Amino acid sequence: MNRYTDDFSTDPKILGDHLKFNSGREAQNRFLKAALTERLSTFDPQNLTKHGLPTQKLLNTYERWGQGGFGVVLTGNVIVDSTHLEYAGNAIIFKEGDSEERRELYKKWSSNIKKDGTLAIVQLSHGGRQTPIAIQPHPFSASDVQLVTNPPNHGKPIALTIEQIQTEVIDRFAYAAKFAYETGFDGIELHGAHGYLLSQFTSPTTNKRTDKYGGSLENRLRIILEIYDAIRKQVPKEFIVGIKTNSVEFQSEGTTVEDAKEICKRLEEKGFDFVELSGGTYEKFQFEHQRESTIKREAFFIEVAETIRPVFKNTVVYLTGGFRTTKAMVEAVSSDVTQGIGLGRPITAEPDLPKKILAKTVASAPKNAFDPNNFTHSLFGCITQMEQMGRISLEAHPEIDIMTDISDFTNTETANRYLEVFKDYITNRNIDKSKDFGLLVFD
Ligand SMILES: Cc1cc2nc3c(=O)[nH]c(=O)nc-3n(C[C@H](O)[C@H](O)[C@H](O)COP(=O)(O)O)c2cc1C
Repeated sequence: MNRYTDDFSTDPKILGDHLKFNSGREAQNRFLKAALTERLSTFDPQNLTKHGLPTQKLLNTYERWGQGGFGVVLTGNVIVDSTHLEYAGNAIIFKEGDSEERRELYKKWSSNIKKDGTLAIVQLSHGGRQTPIAIQPHPFSASDVQLVTNPPNHGKPIALTIEQIQTEVIDRFAYAAKFAYETGFDGIELHGAHGYLLSQFTSPTTNKRTDKYGGSLENRLRIILEIYDAIRKQVPKEFIVGIKTNSVEFQSEGTTVEDAKEICKRLEEKGFDFVELSGGTYEKFQFEHQRESTIKREAFFIEVAETIRPVFKNTVVYLTGGFRTTKAMVEAVSSDVTQGIGLGRPITAEPDLPKKILAKTVASAPKNAFDPNNFTHSLFGCITQMEQMGRISLEAHPEIDIMTDISDFTNTETANRYLEVFKDYITNRNIDKSKDFGLLVFD
């Protein structure tokens, strides 16, 4: 397997430090498995109790990550409203679909993550205007600003009324957090980044409201703070409540670094256990380097994180996006830009990467042969690898090495063959309209 480097001169020890949250809980090390949409749950919108249920494949996948040596494992986005998915195949937690079966599957999911002392955290999200049109032609959002993508794939949104903000958003997030607590998860992370509903409120690009949920930064952030309060009423203090937020949006009118710093200050004041810093939206995904100066340090948002970092006193800060080598991870932590290291794409290729880094058997992540600036290719490559990871249960077959099932995209030939099939899939995807949820191609 091709890697970024085999230089073992950096000691990874600091990455094994515990991280302590406000709630009193501790992560066993600094590694965070970032949220990665798996699309491995059932899709059955006509039959709500069977809609958005974790499949055996999903549970198998998390067995692998549960034994991967992470401090925290986040789930992929779990949706709090069955009509506002990010994509078909998302896991869903919603009161209309509550059942013993759903609860049992979520219990199994959390226990698969927690076997080795890893904290299990559900990422809760609402698609808002980013919900594909085939799932929701009239999505809710902060305002009626439509998302424009190529090809077009999103309906004109309806601005939520004040009453709907309470019943359709705040209550749903609080319900889902309680469900996560009752099914054995250690906490939740609000998805407040990447242009999903909560960031549609914080970002001036999509929030044109003139009531108490729009205008000033305080008003744009209000919904998130109210969700926090509503969740806290439903769960004990030890339950971890974190948030993923954008450090910058790179769009005119988008959240600026100064805004993000102010937002983070208020999240800290509110008592959030952790903040995970990320960036970008569907309109401008930026999981690549914007400046020469960040390339060496690997993390895409490291310079904005440096600006934001001083506001965090008790809230644990994670930085996600771009980390690939022990050296860059250790440097980011040693210089105190971040306390935790979020990993996304590298861990679908190698689910136990943190364990290997800490044991010094590897010094970096696998290096895919895909164009590093083509997010679409790596996104779908990762989704393929997650499905492959889920084919075999570790519990049932501890003897089988899952790595033999996961496509090695560090191999140029394998990566090119995959891209051929992928192109074919993109070209022919309109064959069955009823199953076309739109594949976004990020430029
Ligand atoms: C396949 C895939 C699925 C993703 N799904 C989510 C998601 O559900 N929620 C989220 O917050 N971010 C999601 N992301 C973004 C990642 O969490 C992470 O922020 C991004 O990949 C950058 O980190 P990396 O460079 O280590 O991959 C996804 C990324 C990929 C590649």
